[in-house]
Amino acid sequence: MSTSSIIEGRIDKTVSAETGVLELTESVAGDSHQRMVSGRSNFQSSFLAGDSTEQREPNDYYKTQPRYTRPMLARERFDGVVWECACGDGAISRVLPGEVISTDLHDRGFGETGVDFLATTKQVNHIVTNPPYSLAQKFVEHALQCVSGKVAMLLKLNFLEGQKRKPFFERTPLRTVYVFSDRISFDKGDVESKGSGLLAYAWFVWEIGYQGKPTLEWIKSESANS
Ligand SMILES: C[S@@+](CC[C@H](N)C(=O)[O-])C[C@H]1O[C@@H](n2cnc3c(N)ncnc32)[C@H](O)[C@@H]1O
Repeated sequence: MSTSSIIEGRIDKTVSAETGVLELTESVAGDSHQRMVSGRSNFQSSFLAGDSTEQREPNDYYKTQPRYTRPMLARERFDGVVWECACGDGAISRVLPGEVISTDLHDRGFGETGVDFLATTKQVNHIVTNPPYSLAQKFVEHALQCVSGKVAMLLKLNFLEGQKRKPFFERTPLRTVYVFSDRISFDKGDVESKGSGLLAYAWFVWEIGYQGKPTLEWIKSESANS
């Protein structure tokens, strides 16, 4: 393809939800053809992450609808003080049981703001959050220093992968992974998401003192109208 055809043409990008394959359709001067890209290019990785870099919400702000949190809460008890340490507008905090502490680095009109979780030293019984994905592992490691009970984090299922993750999982007390059998999606800012997302997510639950192997369970989100 010549340089001018790139400039004059258009490229439409879609990702197959089933295969994860990126499909590029080039439309040049009325003609179009399709290319299948099966490698994991940087572009594909960021696209699969939910958005291109330019389209990601500032500070990784994606809201977790209560219908994604309640199915996990139906299976896990959190007695005592529960900390939502990246609370956003309180989407998770509002459905947590017991005494709830809510903080966030940024002001989203809920909880205590200006609190960088990674710089905190607070001690609580449990932490439950959907962290900024770019800091997910740091959040889990720090959370495990802050609790006497459980850490529950909503993360992409592919958080399980990777050479660096293997030793991380071997040294942390991951107890249960609740995989969503449906595809969930997140509200961006104030825009409520109604569709289903491209990626698999799961609630990962660590418990201080747990020494066995992690177990895998499946959960389903509540329907959009519940
Ligand atoms: C993916 S959003 C999730 C918000 C909320 N937990 C929810 O599920 O609706 C991540 C949140 O982490 C906050 N955040 C980013 N870096 C942070 C940090 N270092 N300490 C505390 N909060 C942080 C962002 O402001 C954002 O509100």
